[in-house]
Amino acid sequence: MKLGFHHLALLLLLAYGGIAPARAAGSWKFLQNVGVSGMHMQLLHNDRLVLFDRTNVGPSNLTFPAGHPCRINPQDQWFRNRSDCTAHSVEYSVASNTFRGLSIFTDTWCSSGHVAPDGTLVQNGGWRDGTRKIRLMPACSGSDASCDWTEEPAPVVLAADRWYATNQKLPDGRAIIVGGLGQPSYEFYPKTGTNAAFSLPFLGQTNSLYPFVHLNIDGNLFIFASNRAILFDYKTGKIVRNYTTLGSGGDLRTNPNAGSSVLLPLKPNPTEAEVLICGGTPATSNGAVAAGQFPPALRTCGRLKITDPNPSWVVEEMPSPRVMGDMILLPNGEVAIINGATDGIAGWESANTFNPTPVIYRPDLPFVTPTNRFEAQAPAGTPRPRMYHASAVLDRDGRVIVGGSNPHQFYVFDKKFPTDLTLEAFSPYYLDGSNDGLRPNIFVPSPKDGPVHVAYGAQLKLQFFARDGVPGAVTMVAPSFTTHSFAQNQRQLFLQVQVKPAQAFQLNGGVAKPFPGFYEATVAMPATPVLAPPGYYMLFVVNGRIPSKGIWVHIQ
Ligand SMILES: *[C@@H]1O[C@H](CO)[C@@H](O)[C@H](O)[C@H]1NC(C)=O
Ligand SMILES: *[C@@H]1O[C@H](CO)[C@@H](O)[C@H](O)[C@H]1NC(C)=O
Ligand SMILES: *[C@@H]1O[C@H](CO)[C@@H](O)[C@H](O)[C@H]1NC(C)=O
Repeated sequence: MKLGFHHLALLLLLAYGGIAPARAAGSWKFLQNVGVSGMHMQLLHNDRLVLFDRTNVGPSNLTFPAGHPCRINPQDQWFRNRSDCTAHSVEYSVASNTFRGLSIFTDTWCSSGHVAPDGTLVQNGGWRDGTRKIRLMPACSGSDASCDWTEEPAPVVLAADRWYATNQKLPDGRAIIVGGLGQPSYEFYPKTGTNAAFSLPFLGQTNSLYPFVHLNIDGNLFIFASNRAILFDYKTGKIVRNYTTLGSGGDLRTNPNAGSSVLLPLKPNPTEAEVLICGGTPATSNGAVAAGQFPPALRTCGRLKITDPNPSWVVEEMPSPRVMGDMILLPNGEVAIINGATDGIAGWESANTFNPTPVIYRPDLPFVTPTNRFEAQAPAGTPRPRMYHASAVLDRDGRVIVGGSNPHQFYVFDKKFPTDLTLEAFSPYYLDGSNDGLRPNIFVPSPKDGPVHVAYGAQLKLQFFARDGVPGAVTMVAPSFTTHSFAQNQRQLFLQVQVKPAQAFQLNGGVAKPFPGFYEATVAMPATPVLAPPGYYMLFVVNGRIPSKGIWVHIQ
């Protein structure tokens, strides 16, 4: 039989089609009005999401209970010397759907963060009085209301002002902090030796606002800004590789043109790594928005094999244009592209049309056409517009929690896109009840027992149940610090796994027989901290396209 291109494409599509019902649609669910707009969000290993906004916008809609200390910061542009008894940060418990206000003292506007190996959220930079500050928020346990943010006292401060910088965790447990407005430089935290910033002229030649930074599997950093990328050896300060430009020059991807970027999931013992960058705007949109127009955003994505010595971008096309989207890695290795607008740019009053449609990108499908790896979702319910200053994170249930959106300077509720103080969950198709038979359920280690501690290269034993299918994959996902359309430190690994049916003695007969649906698995944890920097990850068992709920693992 002679197969033409179209036949081949069809066969490939069928072969890779997976076993999930194609049109289970997922849903939107309103969670809470937390009174604070979620400009920045991070999930911690206590399953509580820490979100915060900026502090110089006047009162938020969440007033502290009587007796809680109020903030007096003479540097605050709104309150001056008056006391501010409202919260600008919130701890939201995913399990109980409850929240409480937290205290931040200095301005966190457009700042960055990561989670230290011990599970503490480290957050740095911001505006004016906050621009060199380093703040710490532990993963609180129980209901201790005094568990809250602290600020590192001087001299533990950043070496340079960092407003719009990006953090990336390193294999040694430190983080590198890259860029910021007017800062073509980087530095490290915690500090070893002198508190110095190091020059990175590439950011001066491109754009130093929220660069997309990913830790490559060779230990170097992939850094993307505007439409260009380098592979950077932060230990020597040298550029290892200049990648080709993405697009013809007129399309920009980083803030304020605000595409998004992910390191695609790594395979077991990976020898290759790929980055996917989606959305953004033509360079001409900046001037057009200033003149009161809202040109369409980009539909294109670029995919690059960053481990190749001289790779070219493969350009793909999303179902709709998007700027200010968030790209969130899902437990099954797919990528959700969510939030943002179809026109304009990132900034106050700078976009006119919400993009309501989450899209799922399937990295493992073969490239057949520029569009075949994308699936536009049609979830039940109506999403709230998530425009500028919105964010998104993955939770352990496999949902994407979205929050924030405030395309105005202050909290404003009577405009087309009012300041949004809510949290909402997007449940992808795989959480649909029609997939329950396929959903693996991990019972050893028990999800109730808290994080499992593992060493690099260790073997982790799992037991799980799945009524239908045979779950064959295990993934681990580093939860992201998400702000301004980039999920900092997000990382996913497929792990080497051996699955076998569980043997059990049946009472009548006394012989060991497989128990239908019960499985045992031995999972090889990543071999090195270059593949998975130390800290907390969510681990999932995946059956075709259907993931289990996650368990937390701590690797060190
Ligand atoms: C926030 O508080 C203001 C002032 O009290 C009120 O007008 C507004 O409706 C509240 N908005 C939300 C979304 O809760
Ligand atoms: C705040 O109070 C301090 C000390 O009383 C005073 O020196 C300063 O001028 C005040 N600042 C403003 C903005 O009112
Ligand atoms: C990368 O580009 C920069 C600036 O154009 C140049 O100075 C440098 O030598 C290049 N490095 C490599 C490894 O190609």
